[in-house]
Amino acid sequence: MSGILSICYLIASVTFIIGLKMLSNPASARKGNLIAAGGMIIAIAGTIFLYEDDGKKLGNYLWIFSAIIIGIITGTLIAKKVKMTAMPELVSFFNGMGGACAALISMVEFDYVFRANRLLDSNSFSNVVSFGHYLAIIAGTIIGSVSFAGSMIAWGKLNGSIKDFAFKGQHFINLLILLLVVASAVVAYCTNVRIANVPFFITVALALLYGVFFVLPIGGADMPVVISLLNSFTGVAAACGGFLYDNKAMLTGGILVGAAGTLLTILMCRAMNRSLKNVLIGSFGGPKNATATSSGTHGSYKEISVSDAAMLMAYSKKVMIVPGYGLAVAQAQHSCHELEKALEEKGVEVKYAIHPVAGRMPGHMNVLLAEADVNYDKLLEMDDANEEFKTTDVVLILGANDVVNPAAKNDPSSPIYGMPVLEVELAKTVIVNKRSMKPGYAGIENDLFSQPKTSMLFGDAKKVLQNLIAELKNV
Ligand code: TAP
Repeated sequence: MSGILSICYLIASVTFIIGLKMLSNPASARKGNLIAAGGMIIAIAGTIFLYEDDGKKLGNYLWIFSAIIIGIITGTLIAKKVKMTAMPELVSFFNGMGGACAALISMVEFDYVFRANRLLDSNSFSNVVSFGHYLAIIAGTIIGSVSFAGSMIAWGKLNGSIKDFAFKGQHFINLLILLLVVASAVVAYCTNVRIANVPFFITVALALLYGVFFVLPIGGADMPVVISLLNSFTGVAAACGGFLYDNKAMLTGGILVGAAGTLLTILMCRAMNRSLKNVLIGSFGGPKNATATSSGTHGSYKEISVSDAAMLMAYSKKVMIVPGYGLAVAQAQHSCHELEKALEEKGVEVKYAIHPVAGRMPGHMNVLLAEADVNYDKLLEMDDANEEFKTTDVVLILGANDVVNPAAKNDPSSPIYGMPVLEVELAKTVIVNKRSMKPGYAGIENDLFSQPKTSMLFGDAKKVLQNLIAELKNV
């Protein structure tokens, strides 16, 4: 049986790797997700039916299947109901659940060792388990608890129920809590097993507190970076569980999540030209800064009517669409695809310029446009798009702001200075659709809006797109 179980774990590990690889391309991402999920089902089923300990099967089937059914129903309902713009908070919630599971797995192992040895005389954990084993238990417990508490706070902040909270000396206190976490973990290892549960649960409580304090002061809009970091924590905690139970699928899955989360965090920071330290300690994305400049004291700008915009695009050779967060808010992806088709019927070449951090989560624009069946070949990455703007007649910006802000190149005093941006001003004409002159996520003004070749087309992206499509029929 154990041989077949090992093969199940091997198959699961291979599907995780194949699935992850396929996730790197929107065209294959859905299939990749299904393949990895299939591998996970094989690993779970194998564990439930084939796992044996001293010839004893797992048992507890009623509990196990009840939990699985509740999980499947709840997860499916939540995932079906969630809006695209609420996706980061859902990811955060699911990640928190993963962190809690990983912590509980390690805590169960602690409890097992504790119960088996607490009646023996004056034995400390250091006498009954190896240091490596204890390290896996305590690391899984601490990292999983931090990930759970941090993700729950991130979830609350993203859905608006928890406000940013920072006070003077916060970073010092965080460091102190972290030191106390390590100290109590050491005490739990060295003290008599009979009372080791006390410092152990103090460690858990402090780790949860650290998770809360770690995420509370971070600007709400910086949450995607933090969630990705917490995601990697959950992966590491799960890998500790895999190590403890010698479960290869859990080990591989945990390592993959840990590595992918870390890489994603680094890539997001790089695309925003900010260090992780800057995101964690001092962010420009907090709502404090955003409201400070949200009055919108822009220079003069000119407006364009829907009919003029439609005319301009209909007589162009090439139109480049730049989607941003506003497109997701307006849920205008389908209308956007319809505009693309309407323009193509008129012989206009249409492409999309995708900035890596447009929107509020990695791949946000890719997912949004894939949902509307936009051909993936039409999506240009930033560097390619910047090359093509020189030969573009009209750039239509739909709910994007920071990712097209020239201050990132020209103004060393700007908080986004150094962030690579889409150089839309290289095109002949720029049309910007948004609802007002309010700033975007970074809370700063955008000089692009007052440049001579830029025209503003105010309104909700979906409505404006529908009007443009209607106008195009008359051209
Ligand atoms: P933003 O700079 O946030 O600008 C979005 C614009 O959309 C706003 O100026 C808003 O202006 C407009 N808008 C909102 N609702 C709209 C609607 N219904 N119809 C039309 N327009 C609407 O977005 P961006 O250019 O996509 O840049 C993303 C920002 O988020 C970057 O600063 C990036 O660093 C940050 N960020 C991204 C990520 C990831 S991973 N994507 C993670 C963390 C932070 P009005 O209110 O005037 O309409």
